[in-house]
Amino acid sequence: MNDRILIFDTTLRDGEQALLASLTNKEKLQIAFALERLGVDIIEAGFPVSSPGDFKSVQEIARNIKNATVCGLARSLYEDIDACGESLKVAEHFRIHTFIATSDIHVNAKLKKTQQDVLDMAVKAVKRARRYTDDVEFSCEDAGRTDIDYLCRMVESAITAGATTINIPDTVGYTIPSEFGGIIQTLFNRVPNIDKAVISVHCHNDLGLAVANSLSAVQQGARQIECTINGLGERAGNCSLEEVAMILQTRQSLLNFETGINSNEIYRTSKLISQLCNMPVQGNKAIVGANAFSHSSGIHQDGVLKSKDTYEIMTPESVGISKNHLNMTSRSGRHVIQHRMKELGYMPNDYDLEVLYSNFLALADKKGQVFDYDLEALVFFDQQKHQQAYYSLVYLQANSGANIIPTATIQVEVGDTLKTATEVGNGPVNAAFNAIISATGIDGLEVVDFKLDSKGEGSDALAQVSVVVEYNQRRFNGIGLATDIVEAGVKALIYVLNNTHMADQIDQHKQLNSIKVVNIDKKV
Ligand code: KIV
Ligand code: ZN
Repeated sequence: MNDRILIFDTTLRDGEQALLASLTNKEKLQIAFALERLGVDIIEAGFPVSSPGDFKSVQEIARNIKNATVCGLARSLYEDIDACGESLKVAEHFRIHTFIATSDIHVNAKLKKTQQDVLDMAVKAVKRARRYTDDVEFSCEDAGRTDIDYLCRMVESAITAGATTINIPDTVGYTIPSEFGGIIQTLFNRVPNIDKAVISVHCHNDLGLAVANSLSAVQQGARQIECTINGLGERAGNCSLEEVAMILQTRQSLLNFETGINSNEIYRTSKLISQLCNMPVQGNKAIVGANAFSHSSGIHQDGVLKSKDTYEIMTPESVGISKNHLNMTSRSGRHVIQHRMKELGYMPNDYDLEVLYSNFLALADKKGQVFDYDLEALVFFDQQKHQQAYYSLVYLQANSGANIIPTATIQVEVGDTLKTATEVGNGPVNAAFNAIISATGIDGLEVVDFKLDSKGEGSDALAQVSVVVEYNQRRFNGIGLATDIVEAGVKALIYVLNNTHMADQIDQHKQLNSIKVVNIDKKV
């Protein structure tokens, strides 16, 4: 029988903390639902003590997710553990994940404590967490560089204190596979109560070895892998979920492991997260990159035509990529769209067919042929729309050219009022942004990043603009999609304005009902 490997996803915690701009609570919930559907065992939803917003989003995820264990992160401090317990207690079953650094460099230079102090803090933290739940994970931060005798002592003490999962992170991605596997092997050989806990690993990718190190660890007895979609995470990121899951599936007869991952949800989850997080996936990325299943050289193409497995070790369909044999144009009916959406893995209640169909027709009129990525983009943007958008675009006209001053006129609905402004700029997008700022009268907003992408091929591709905006010392992401570049940019900025408006409202509400959560530096 194959041994089961638990998949612990930390996209919403380790992944999110590395983004240029935070996700909104709604986006985090959307990601949590996608992860649940993907079949992950544990979702690390956030770091509740870090901000009232994080506290609320962990709580919201804990309330809504039923088929995965929801987990929150806490330093080995009572206030962190209490915030974690309080945010998660709405769930039927939840996990508290507490951690402290154990390597000499972290203990001495960062914590400025002795090894014994750190061990005492860890034991107290685990005991405190056990007051809330019998599912407690303890992590020895920077375990990869920790003195092995001390690591064994720490693991034994944490298990005695009640930890049910022990996580061994290679926090700085320093180890190599034989070395990291050796650490796991030593723990199994030397820690007397090791069989009372699940051993987990959490590898960072600084040397590109996060997946290989995780694999080496499971071969030595670890049974939980911490990972993220698209390998998001601090610096070079974390172990990539899709890679590790497909290794265990594709090489199952050699490795004899299995996971609960529903592999044909991988591609869709990867795209959703890339889009929401404003983190493009590199074309040659294993499993989910645009080229992961394309064959370029003549010899390869010839081989694949004769027999696919000459150059394909897994099928694109196994990760949820399906080829379209239907031509989607304005003559296509609703049933064609519905059929294709089903093939792309969407459930009927994932989208509103009437809305999608009318958006599809509008796009087909502009583009002629509509492709899978267009359909997915239409669904994505419809899901992103704010039910009650405070700001919405009514009218846009932008003029630019070689010898004219770029000018834009904008009409935006702000609440119930229509506002209009005309401005100039150094280009049509800049002029349109200036006009939006003039029309809305918003102060203190700075666009710190602007990215233009094309969705599809050729000059009729859709333009996707992502912007990062700083407002009130926070960063917000926005994305807009249109056949016109200026319109895509304007939509992205209006998306951001709606999020800043929501944040302002939450802040006002917070002042009225202040949640008792301590603000700390969110980076861990
Ligand atoms: O990399 C790390 O050590 C972490 C811990 C908090 C588990 O993210
Ligand atoms: Zn980490």
